[in-house]
Amino acid sequence: MRMRNPKYMNDVINNCDFLLDENLFANDNPICMEIGMGKGDFILNMALENPNINYIGVEKYSSVASIAIKKIQEYELTNIKILITDIIKAPEYLYHQIDTIYLNFSDPWPKKKHAKRRLTHENFLRFYNNLFKNKCHIIMKTDNDDLYQFSKDSFINYGYKIMEDYGDLHKTNIHNIQTEYERKFSELGFTIKYLNVEKELDK
Ligand SMILES: C[S@@+](CC[C@H](N)C(=O)[O-])C[C@H]1O[C@@H](n2cnc3c(N)ncnc32)[C@H](O)[C@@H]1O
Repeated sequence: MRMRNPKYMNDVINNCDFLLDENLFANDNPICMEIGMGKGDFILNMALENPNINYIGVEKYSSVASIAIKKIQEYELTNIKILITDIIKAPEYLYHQIDTIYLNFSDPWPKKKHAKRRLTHENFLRFYNNLFKNKCHIIMKTDNDDLYQFSKDSFINYGYKIMEDYGDLHKTNIHNIQTEYERKFSELGFTIKYLNVEKELDK
């Protein structure tokens, strides 16, 4: 998601006191991470609902991240931090800290020549091994049939076990916090696909 820089962008980021640093969180609660949090609705509502879980929202564009930060600043939360980076450049202090990764409506990169940019490409799955603490656990949602199928194949080929697989998430009774893209695409009539996958961590 690329957009024009909001006027308040630098101010909001420079004054944000919940940007991630090597201190992570002041407790040993589980840490979940959303890669590509966009404008932050999902990660904010997860943090509000689950005070005993820590959340890290990762977004590569400062313009978009500043919108999320502005929303989060309206609350006094101690269980959410923001990291503005391309995930592939995640700092080493994050290695082996993460319990669950959420991939919500990741860019589908429809052209075959761009397949390596998909966040569920094997190269990314290999990189996520660095981030996971005990077990590799990924939950993804998408409206895009091709990305759903590609991701399923990629997870299986990389040794993940499919724990849950729903072709129409909104027809299940799974407790679901919607993202901005999810609201937009389901209103347009797209079904929302959901995968919950796990793998032992290679040691
Ligand atoms: C299509 S948007 C979805 C936003 C949000 N998750 C939602 O569901 O509404 C994908 C977001 O992922 C971000 N993104 C894509 N690749 C990324 C990467 N390698 N590291 C961090 N963020 C990334 C994009 O900048 C964009 O904001």
